[in-house]
Amino acid sequence: MKKTLKDIDVKGKKVLIRFDYNVPLDGNLEITDDKRIVSTLPTLKYLLNENVAVIIIAHLGRPKGKIVPEMSLMPVSIRLSELLGKPVKFFGGDCISVQSKKAASDLKPGEVLLLENLRFHYEEEGKSKSGERDKAAMEAFAKELASMAEIFIQDAFGTVHRSHASTVGIVKYIENAAVGFLVEKELKFLGEVLENPLRPFLAILGGAKVSDKINVIGSFLNRVDAIIIGGAMAYTFLKSRGINIGTSLVENDKLDLCVELFKKAEDRRVDFLLPIDHIITNKVNFLNKDIPNDATVKTTLDEVIPSGFIGVDIGFKSIDKFSRMIKSAKTIVWNGPLGIFEIGEFSKGTIEIAKLVAEGTDKGVISVIGGGDSVAAVKKAGVDKRISHISTGGGASLEFLEGKELPGIVSIPDK
Ligand code: 3PG
Repeated sequence: MKKTLKDIDVKGKKVLIRFDYNVPLDGNLEITDDKRIVSTLPTLKYLLNENVAVIIIAHLGRPKGKIVPEMSLMPVSIRLSELLGKPVKFFGGDCISVQSKKAASDLKPGEVLLLENLRFHYEEEGKSKSGERDKAAMEAFAKELASMAEIFIQDAFGTVHRSHASTVGIVKYIENAAVGFLVEKELKFLGEVLENPLRPFLAILGGAKVSDKINVIGSFLNRVDAIIIGGAMAYTFLKSRGINIGTSLVENDKLDLCVELFKKAEDRRVDFLLPIDHIITNKVNFLNKDIPNDATVKTTLDEVIPSGFIGVDIGFKSIDKFSRMIKSAKTIVWNGPLGIFEIGEFSKGTIEIAKLVAEGTDKGVISVIGGGDSVAAVKKAGVDKRISHISTGGGASLEFLEGKELPGIVSIPDK
C-alpha cells in the first residue's frame, strides 16, 4: 500500500502538490469543464485546514517545452480561487523563475500558490532545453521543484501514467511523499473493479484508433465476459473480416492484429460485438466538426458501407444489439465514443449508449467511465450524475485497467 496524505503529518508545513489541471478551454480561454479542478478540492481543503502552505504544480496541453500563452494556467488560478473562496497566487511565464521561487519561499501557512504550466519546460518530460532526450535535465528540474517544499503529494491521477519530473523525478529529492485523496479514491474504485468485478463484466471501447487501444483490448479479453467495439476503430475490425467499409477511417497495418484479437476472444469465450449497421456520409468536415450542406447522410442496412461513404456513428440495429448486452451486464467499463459525437447528427449512438449505461447503474450496475470524450458524452446525454465512477484520467485509467504499473504511483513510497 502506498503512503497516503493522512499517513503524513503536514500541519503547518510547506507542501508541493501535483494536480492534473489539464482542463478544456474554449477560444476565449474560458474553462468549459472544471471537473478536474473541482475534484482536487477535498485534498486542498484538508491541507488548508491543516494550515499548510500549498504550492500547486500542474500542466495544461502539450506546449512541448515552449511558453505558449494560450496554455497558461492563469484561467485555472482564477477558477480555483472562486471555488476555494480565497486568493490563489499565480505568476505567469516560468514555474521556476526567480519570482516564482520567491513566491514559494515567502508563502505562509494557509496560502495557496499555483505555479505556471510545467510543460513550458522541456525538462518536465525528460528532455533538455533543445528538446533532446536528457534524463539529467529532467532530474535537475525535478530537484529544483522539490527544493521549494518539505513534502510532495501526488494527486494528478490523469497524469500518473507519465514518467515525468513532476510524477517520478521529484520524489527522490524531497523528504516525504504520498498520494492525495483523489489518487487514493481512483485507485480504490478502479482497483475493486479490476479485482472483483460483478459478472457479466462488459467493456465498451470506442475512439478512432485500434493502435491506441490494442493493449487494453488484449488485456480486457483476459478479464471481461463481453466487449463492444464502436467508433472508427470498429471499421478496422470489420475490414479484417473482409467487410466493405467504403472510405471509412482504417488502420490497414492493424488488420492481422484484429484477426488475432477475434481469435483470442473466441478462445476465451468472450462475446465480441461490432456494429451491425452504421450512419454514413459521403462528406464530413473533420477539422470544423460539421457536415457540408451538400452531404448525403443515411443509414446502412447492414454492416457493409458502400464505396464513397464513411461510417460516422453506429446505427439503430447496433444500438438495439448493444443495448441487450448492456442490460445483462453487472459491471461496465467504458472508454471512447462510438461515433463522431461532437457533431449532433452523429452523436445518437454514443448518447443512447450513455443513457443505457446510466439506466443500468440506477439498477445497481457498477459503471466506470474514463477518457475526455466519453465523459463529455455522458454529460451531453445529461446522465453524468448517474454513473458510479467518472475517472479524471483517460489514458491513466485505461493503463491501470490494462494491469500496467503507473510510474507516478510506483514512485511513491509504501506505508
Ligand atoms: C490527460 O489529459 O489525459 C492528462 O492530463 C495527460 O495528458 P497527456 O496525455 O498530454 O500526457
